[in-house]
Order: sequence, then C-alpha cells, then structure tokens
Amino acid sequence: MNETIRLLQAHHSNRNYKTDPVSKEILDAIIECACCAPTSINSHEISLVVVRNADSRARIAEIAGGQPWIAQAPVFIAVIVDLYKTGLGVKKAGAEQVFQRSLEGILAAVSDAGIAMATLMTAARAFGLGIVPIGGIRRDPQAMIDLLGLPSYTFPVDGVVLGYVAEESPQKPRMPIESFRHEETYHPEALKPAIDAYDRTLQEYWRKIGRTDGLSWSANMAQHYGTFSRLIKSVAQKQGFTIEV
Ligand SMILES: Cc1cc2nc3c(=O)[nH]c(=O)nc-3n(C[C@H](O)[C@H](O)[C@H](O)COP(=O)(O)O)c2cc1C
Repeated sequence: MNETIRLLQAHHSNRNYKTDPVSKEILDAIIECACCAPTSINSHEISLVVVRNADSRARIAEIAGGQPWIAQAPVFIAVIVDLYKTGLGVKKAGAEQVFQRSLEGILAAVSDAGIAMATLMTAARAFGLGIVPIGGIRRDPQAMIDLLGLPSYTFPVDGVVLGYVAEESPQKPRMPIESFRHEETYHPEALKPAIDAYDRTLQEYWRKIGRTDGLSWSANMAQHYGTFSRLIKSVAQKQGFTIEV
C-alpha cells in the first residue's frame, strides 16, 4: 500500500486547531495542486479566495452558523464557481456567455468545485495539516459574496479550513461499501440492509466518542434532506445563475 492510498483511506475531518500559521511554501504548494486539477472542457471555472485575516475568518465562522474551527485555524480557502472569468473569455472571442442560464452549467461548475475541494484537502493532509470542508457558507451566500467582493456570475460553493491539529479526531465509519459500489447495473436491493447496518454502526460510534447529540444516518438525512433553503436560489439568481434550461 503506498502513502497516497493510505492518506486517502485515512480521511477524516478535524475541528480542533492550533493557531500556528501555515507557511507560504506549504500554502503555495497546496493551491498549485488545486490549480493543476482538471476542469470541465478546461474551463478553469473555479477560483479560490484565501482568507487568513482573523476578523474575516471570525465573520465566516458566524456566516456558517457558528463554526468555531473556521476562526481557530489560520487559513480558510473559499472555493468559488467562477463564470465571471469564463465570461471574459467568451466576450473576448466575440460571443455572449449563456452557460450560467443552464442546469448543465451548474452541474459542470459544481462538479469542478468538488474536484478542487478534494484536491485541496488531499494536498493539505499530505503536508500533515488537518482539514474540514465547509458547506456552511451557503447558509448566507450573500454575506460571503459581500465579504469576499465576488462579482456577478460567481458563487461561493464551499470552503476548506486548514491548520495544524490540536487534538486528533477518530475516523468516522462509512456506510457498507455495497451501498456505494454497484457492478454493471445499479442494485437497489443492497441499500436497505446497508442503511440498517450503518444506522446501528453510527449510533455505536457516537456512543463510543461520547456524543449524546449524534443521530443515526437516517435521522440525519431526515433533518437535512427533508428541507431546503430558498435563499440560495434567490442569491444565485441575483448573481446571474438563472437556470432557464
Ligand atoms: C461539501 C462538504 C461540506 C461540508 N460542510 C461542513 C461544514 O460546514 N461544517 C462541518 O463541520 N463539516 C462539514 N463537512 C464535513 C462532513 O460533515 C464530514 O466530511 C462527514 O461527516 C464525514 O466525516 P469525516 O470527514 O470526518 O470523515 C462537509 C463535508 C463536505 C464534503
């Protein structure tokens, strides 16, 4: 087993950081890794905003619904879908960009954002840093847009916290692989037993780490996927993502 595979299989988030800074060399290398990641049709439709300013990180912690690790760790990197940048290319070539009006445009851009996120996290962990991905910034995307000075046709999708870990966290168990890996065609019959087993495993995990507020996977899904936010749609539309087709 090589080091990269070991690193990927040991993935876990960290929510307890030292305030020690991350050196310029390490941060530059992590960001270069993400810049080398692929994008749909070589669009380069992702940009990063590196936030080190303590007041800004404290504000992001607040925007994300009260997540103290964002203020605690020295670096937050916001991952931005950037159709402002692609629009400049389209305009230079004498055309009008319409991609932001399509669901395909959203899917392609968000998929590229995910690849950038994964690359940032893997590179940071390879340097011995802890990470936690942050989707909580979408609780108030307009506040993030204002804080980061984002132009139209951009959207703050996620972010990553980077820093040196104060106290290690255990690795959270995953759903049985039968729920994830399907051979040749999708096998829905594999799901119910995997979900039942995972609900039990996760509750056992919460008990083991002393978390009394931990939910089963199904209860967690009901809490988060049984509802949705209208706020994102209106802010995205204001930014120019109108999704007409
Ligand atoms: C796109 C994305 C957004 C996330 N947003 C948050 C967040 O806002 N706050 C947080 O504490 N964890 C967040 N997480 C972390 C997940 O809760 C975590 O990855 C998951 O529970 C699995 O745990 P692990 O990363 O420790 O293995 C996010 C993860 C992903 C992939």
